[in-house]
Amino acid sequence: MKEFIKKLPKAELHIHIEGALEPDLMFRLATKNNIKIPYQTIEEVKAAYNFTNLQSFLDIYYAGANVLITKNDFYDMTWAYILKCVENNIIHTEIFFDPQTHTSRGISFDTVILGISEALKDAKEKYSITSNIIMCFLRHLSQEEAFKTFEECLSHKDKIIGIGLDSSELGHPPSKFKEVFQKAKEEGFKLVAHAGEEADYSYIYEALDLLDIQRIDHGVQAINSADLMQRLKDEQIPLTVCPNSNIELKVFDNYKQHNIKKLLDYGLNVTVNSDDPAYFKGYLNDNFINLCENIDLTKEDIIKLIRNSFNSSFISQEFKNEYI
Ligand code: HPA
Ligand code: ZN
Repeated sequence: MKEFIKKLPKAELHIHIEGALEPDLMFRLATKNNIKIPYQTIEEVKAAYNFTNLQSFLDIYYAGANVLITKNDFYDMTWAYILKCVENNIIHTEIFFDPQTHTSRGISFDTVILGISEALKDAKEKYSITSNIIMCFLRHLSQEEAFKTFEECLSHKDKIIGIGLDSSELGHPPSKFKEVFQKAKEEGFKLVAHAGEEADYSYIYEALDLLDIQRIDHGVQAINSADLMQRLKDEQIPLTVCPNSNIELKVFDNYKQHNIKKLLDYGLNVTVNSDDPAYFKGYLNDNFINLCENIDLTKEDIIKLIRNSFNSSFISQEFKNEYI
């Protein structure tokens, strides 16, 4: 099964590029940029990656991002992820970035987006890997802050296909961002949002009904509402599920408890993704392999999950026909 998974060409729809910052690059950038990080060795970093919930991860993830200063730093982080795409046979990827994590530290929006987008352009040239960029608002910040960030992104509309919503979920429901998502829709952006990762399924309803999103990131809490399950099935709304993340952040106790097979068997449009691979012990293939080692996924299931990713991506129909 491992060989089968490795060989299949894949798409990834839920990867935070700041979550692909591996400890060795973090150390190199910290030294180069003279930034203090609270670790002496890579072993110490890895020991710190022992999370109890989403917030315990986010605190460490935002601290790690402090080492990113120059356009080249963003390029190098993105390029390192592209090399993992090559290894994992990911031929199309849609990556999130969190501009507010950087602009709040005095790094310009241009520095961030240009570093990321230049690496993705080179990935297309060198490896024929296609990609899209989705800009996320940090939901623990205000809608007013999100509007400011949205204004900044407009001069880079050619590089950003969609708008998303991430960070601390509990207490920050999608309704908090209704107006800025409405504005993003008017401007023609695709819309996605993290919902139903830790918070209950009402956040998924809000994301669908108030933000009018096209994909739900995570969404595993949908299983607690029969009505919502039926709707997700009828409308074939994609769920970008991240198994390693769910285990590391204690959404499920272990892989055997993960509900992905139930969601899939019910007929939902489920996909598999790595979320923050440098923090959650592995890239896309590892997510598939961990599932297969613990849950009875058939080869047909794997193919279905991968087809769902290509079908649910924001690539053009013409490209989709070529991929699928
Ligand atoms: N959830 C919310 N915010 C995030 C995540 C996540 O899984 N990863 C990075 N930012
Ligand atoms: Zn995520």
